[in-house]
Amino acid sequence: MRLNVPDYIMSIKPYEPGKPIDELEREYGIKNIVKLASNENPVGTSPLAVKAIGDHLATMNRYPDGSAFKLTAKLAERFNVKYENVIVGNGSDDIIALLAHAFLGTGREALMPLPSFLMYEISVRASGGTPVMVTLNGLSLDLDALANSVTEKTAMIFLTNPNNPTGSHFTTTEFDAFMAKIPSDVMVIVDEAYIEFARDPNIFNSLNVENRLRNSLLNRTEVIDLESVSTAREIIPLVDSRVISLRTFSKAYGLAGFRVGYGIMDSEIVSVLHRIRQPFNVNSLAQIAAAAALDDYGFFELGIKTMHKGIDYLVKELSAMGIKTFPTQANFFLLDVKRDATEVFKEMLRYGIITRSMKSYGFPSCLRISAGLPNENRAFIEALKKVISL
Ligand SMILES: Cc1ncc(COP(=O)(O)O)c(C=O)c1O
Repeated sequence: MRLNVPDYIMSIKPYEPGKPIDELEREYGIKNIVKLASNENPVGTSPLAVKAIGDHLATMNRYPDGSAFKLTAKLAERFNVKYENVIVGNGSDDIIALLAHAFLGTGREALMPLPSFLMYEISVRASGGTPVMVTLNGLSLDLDALANSVTEKTAMIFLTNPNNPTGSHFTTTEFDAFMAKIPSDVMVIVDEAYIEFARDPNIFNSLNVENRLRNSLLNRTEVIDLESVSTAREIIPLVDSRVISLRTFSKAYGLAGFRVGYGIMDSEIVSVLHRIRQPFNVNSLAQIAAAAALDDYGFFELGIKTMHKGIDYLVKELSAMGIKTFPTQANFFLLDVKRDATEVFKEMLRYGIITRSMKSYGFPSCLRISAGLPNENRAFIEALKKVISL
């Protein structure tokens, strides 16, 4: 059969995920593999989530709740927004694709940082829209250049905060200055997949209750006690109806295998996405696991602390080896191995360590790694010492 594929589909380069552990086991016949390539949570799965799904394994003959009611309601409560402001997806990947399909198409453009998360480009191309890349300024998003690149064709702008793969971030002041230049009909998608790991208190956080209260207070005359409002779970208006917040359970909540992400945005946008999403886009177990993980504060804290300690350890060891690392607000960072990164990536595989080469992202001598458990971090350092001295 002769396939008749539109050019815009053929222009897509398939996404290349981090090398799976099973694949390396098969290829090299080794065990105890350390995977630091996909920004995953090394601590495991929330015990509350494991328990919750265990109670439901025998009812998988039923379709999921297509509205994901409990999870959606829980997220709305957590962030002091209306139920109608929340949509969940099969990973935040799903919501990125839904946004592109709903709001792009021939002749419409989406601005995005380069390099950044590759699924923006893939989803935009798949929808027939045009990706417009705006190169980073050093390792940071160039918010001025992004704002200056807006044209009549621009329908949406992707901002990644912190950015993947560089770990850089922008502050609330920088974001406010950016938004002041953006027309009222352009969506600004703020992808906060890693925000839970951020350590700079000035990072822009699109769902921060205090920021939203302050914004909304600008339009209110009565005096409001900030503390009592946030604890009373009053619904607080979103920062701005142009802003779409994307978050995920894959990183800080340790549920990458379940595929659950969520978006918080203007309810009209949510209602458009509901028209085109698959009816059961988040499976039953994933809904249950995510709702349980949201309440597992102990696991959440452990994951964040393990990650911070791991990153601090790795950065210290690498600097002692004379290897430059770049500052990060995420659960990963770049390191400059001063050699062909893909070669180093391959050599590390022989020691059972999976990293990510940043060659195709424009950093030919950099690897990107996330922190693992303490023994995994030590194994990484030991292997890198051997590889670098080769
Ligand atoms: C910046 C960014 N956004 C979104 C995602 C997708 O996350 P999910 O697993 O929720 O699809 C990733 C995954 O690595 C990411 O790095």
